[in-house]
Amino acid sequence: MTKPKVYVTRRIAQEALDMITQDTEMEVWPEELPPPYEVLLEKVKNIDGLLSLLTDKIDANLMNAAPKLKVISNMAVGYDNINVPEATSRGIVVGYTPGVLTETTADFAFALIMAAARRVVEADAYTRKGRWKTWGPMVMLGQDIHHATLGLVGLGRIGMEVAKRARGFNMKVIYFDAQRRSTQEEKELGVEYIPELSTLLSRSDFVSLHVPLIPQTHHLMGAKEFALMKPTAILVNTSRGPVVDQKALYEALKAKQILAAAIDVTETEPISPGDPLLTLDNIIITPHIASASVVTRTRMAVMAAENLIAGLRGQVPPNCVNPEVIKA
Ligand code: DGY
Repeated sequence: MTKPKVYVTRRIAQEALDMITQDTEMEVWPEELPPPYEVLLEKVKNIDGLLSLLTDKIDANLMNAAPKLKVISNMAVGYDNINVPEATSRGIVVGYTPGVLTETTADFAFALIMAAARRVVEADAYTRKGRWKTWGPMVMLGQDIHHATLGLVGLGRIGMEVAKRARGFNMKVIYFDAQRRSTQEEKELGVEYIPELSTLLSRSDFVSLHVPLIPQTHHLMGAKEFALMKPTAILVNTSRGPVVDQKALYEALKAKQILAAAIDVTETEPISPGDPLLTLDNIIITPHIASASVVTRTRMAVMAAENLIAGLRGQVPPNCVNPEVIKA
């Protein structure tokens, strides 16, 4: 019996690749940078399964070039790189990797909160440049994290884990979400629901974004929203770059309308070397690494392999965005 053909768009953990090769005829894109779209168009022609990353644009055009495609398994919890309705209409199941990266991502969001508040990156540069001359009573003063108010925009899996971490720091945690949690959950987490984003923004010392990128969240944070924030407030983004209007963020940081920002995602990734944000001292920018721990990236790869294999067998992948494709 011929094995199904699959294409994996980057080298992922060996454990996952070993699982895939047992069941399939596998090809892996070997380079560090993602396969160019034109290459992907060629590679998908004959495949039954695709293991993709968030850097691969999987649109209707690509699916048209892949008439045998049964399953797309995205190694990410976010799947805004995939046109899911187009996949569903073609009977292609889409897998994703929720859960396994929740705590690792929350850890990193908290790391950004702390790094921005206490100017860790700036202070390291200060030391390396030989500017540390003495203990100075006014040197590198930052913001307190303990007892400050953390505003979570989005209280899904990751937002909830950030809330738990914040409690350990005696922070007051407030949240805004299109869907309110139950009173019991709010009590257990020690969070207060704020029905208006504008109120949350004006009350928060830290605003941390934990929403998916959907049309309603595109540029959720723009000039109007920054104007509502405290001049001492810090914005943290570990969700998706386009949730923030990057030009408006630059203006707000430059004008000191808000104190600082720490972002792991940008509107286009990677950020262009000429982007004005890179000229500012009051922003930390990391290269989309919130889920990047050895254990978590291995788990994500294994989960993506499991989703891929299940889809190829005609089963609903254990973590599936559009199970109706198979259930129907
Ligand atoms: C995701 O999974 O969506 C993250 O952004 C990368 O881990």
